[in-house]
Amino acid sequence: METQALNLQTSAVAARSAATVLAVTSGKGGVGKTNIAANLAICLAAAHRRVLLMDADLSLGNLDLVLDVRSRYNLSHVVSGRKRMEDVIQAGPQGVQIICGASGLDRLADLTDGEQHRLIENLCRLQHEADTILIDTPAGISKSVMGFCLAADRVLVVTTPEATAMADAYGMVKVLVRKQYPGTISLVVNMARSETEGRQTYQRIAGVAHRFLQANLYYAGTLLKDERLCAAVRSRTPVVLAYPRSQISTALAALAARLGSPRHWSDEDGSFFRRVVRWLN
Ligand SMILES: Nc1ncnc2c1ncn2[C@@H]1O[C@H](COP(=O)(O)OP(=O)(O)OP(=O)(O)O)[C@@H](O)[C@H]1O
Ligand SMILES: [Mg+2]
Repeated sequence: METQALNLQTSAVAARSAATVLAVTSGKGGVGKTNIAANLAICLAAAHRRVLLMDADLSLGNLDLVLDVRSRYNLSHVVSGRKRMEDVIQAGPQGVQIICGASGLDRLADLTDGEQHRLIENLCRLQHEADTILIDTPAGISKSVMGFCLAADRVLVVTTPEATAMADAYGMVKVLVRKQYPGTISLVVNMARSETEGRQTYQRIAGVAHRFLQANLYYAGTLLKDERLCAAVRSRTPVVLAYPRSQISTALAALAARLGSPRHWSDEDGSFFRRVVRWLN
């Protein structure tokens, strides 16, 4: 397994001159990964990035619902070898290229090492077709989730201020550090009641990670709890398209700007942010 993870890391590093791969993940489920990944993808595409968005969930993928795309073929067909990754790509909003996950009926088991290797190799082949590849992973620290995270250049861990979500976010960071993940780990706090609550949540997790794991955890930002996001999910339209001028859409654009900046995780790179905000308005 260690060799496998190392090989996956090596293939990602070899192709690093192409797309940056960002895995959006979490310890606890239902914290907002899919919505964050989908909206980030749209913001990045609106700022002229070529974006590939992949739902890496092989049992309960629901990116297709959030983006309202219908897919005949999905990741399960790539895993089984019936289709190539290129053949299951769908066109989404703002030109985002989408690879849908599998639904419950298609597959329930975790990936074997060989299957995961094939998937990641397929993804690496697409690295020259995109500037950014976003992977929306399932929750938890299963072998396949860790495989996707270890193969990514950057990992964005999503948490909420809830104690259980925070503990599980820390658990995810701990496993990444133990597996000697060489990339950058960043934290976004979703469904916070205020910026202050979000920042304090980050500080608590980052403090513990620093003290016990000697790990640096970057602050990607805070997204407030917002009923408009739920309304957007109900209407199957990503919130940045349904409510482009809302506070949450502006915060998602800022997050995209930060994550998309070459001076990564620095919020001083205003030009990209201005482009996204101009597009939202
Ligand atoms: N900022 C927010 N404000 C209000 N509600 C939110 C926010 N973010 C997410 N939600 C709610 O949480 C639900 C779950 O979000 P989402 O599907 O993106 O989570 P997830 O982490 O991908 O879940 P899973 O672990 O099952 O893949 C959304 O349908 C929405 O109702
Ligand atoms: Mg999800």
